[in-house]
Amino acid sequence: MSEKILEVEHLSVVFGRGKKAFKAVDDVSFSLEKGENFGIVGESGSGKTTIGRTIMRICRAAEGSVKFKGEVISGKVSNKNDKKLTDQIQMIFQDPMSSLNERAKVGYIVSEGLYRDKTLSRAAREDRAAKALIEVGLRTELASRFPHEFSGGQRQRIGIARAMVMEPELIIADEPISALDMSIRAQVLNVMNRLKREHALTMIFISHDLSVTRFICDRIACLHKGVLVEMADTETLYSNPLHPYTQSLLSAVPQPDPRAEKKKKLIAYDASMHDYTVDKPIWCEIAPGHFVRGSEKELEKYRGTLL
Ligand SMILES: Nc1ncnc2c1ncn2[C@@H]1O[C@H](COP(=O)(O)OP(=O)(O)OP(=O)(O)O)[C@@H](O)[C@H]1O
Ligand SMILES: [Mg+2]
Repeated sequence: MSEKILEVEHLSVVFGRGKKAFKAVDDVSFSLEKGENFGIVGESGSGKTTIGRTIMRICRAAEGSVKFKGEVISGKVSNKNDKKLTDQIQMIFQDPMSSLNERAKVGYIVSEGLYRDKTLSRAAREDRAAKALIEVGLRTELASRFPHEFSGGQRQRIGIARAMVMEPELIIADEPISALDMSIRAQVLNVMNRLKREHALTMIFISHDLSVTRFICDRIACLHKGVLVEMADTETLYSNPLHPYTQSLLSAVPQPDPRAEKKKKLIAYDASMHDYTVDKPIWCEIAPGHFVRGSEKELEKYRGTLL
């Protein structure tokens, strides 16, 4: 039996007020099954981080809701039980150079989230922080050092340890490797993959790099200007992308074979190609598990190209 761990329903997020109001996330719905690795891809500014931050309750949902393990967590969460629940969702941030508190020692940075649990002794906190450091492949002696003494890859490991120490069930990894040198990206990905397996984690992997998501994610959603345009399991999305925006993103993926790379044709996406003045777009499950946004006419066309 599958178990839904996260349900995002008709989520909209608005920044600013009045005339300056700007919808960064617009009517986004998706749900995750336990253990799944779900990718959110889209160009810069499409709202990927905002979705993550709203699930984390750093941003407020203007409309719609977020449910975690069947309970609504968007909106006000006040009592202790709710806090315990939301602690089970942790985020790993994009830039390990700016997301760590430079004045704090690594031991404190990693264990910070544990201070909220007043029943934990100092020894218990230190013990859990040490375990988390080991899990990400760092020596426990490093707990007494400061972030500036670490390389980018090590700093990202600290960020991962900081999330893991809370014993989360859901991890939101926001471009966790894009700020890192090519040579250490694979190492950090391997750490994340191992942790995911060993702890049966569910993960949202946010990325604009579709060559990475292909190998990491079970299912992928494409976001364009705050709106989901397509969502399918990874295999389907890469082999049969329907929406022109997905096709455009995929056309930019570097090809390992130099000849293929040379022949590669970039497909530009121009949103004005859609005529939605009369025939409004809907979010349609065009094949089992394969969702795409389009007008009736477009959907008809997409159906014709289904494998
Ligand atoms: N706190 C904020 N106040 C006002 N606007 C914001 C805020 N956070 C994000 N935005 C705007 O919302 C839109 C979506 O931003 P977001 O950071 O979610 O995009 P993203 O897909 O994560 O981009 P990137 O790939 O560059 O990280 C952008 O236009 C951004 O400028
Ligand atoms: Mg972002």
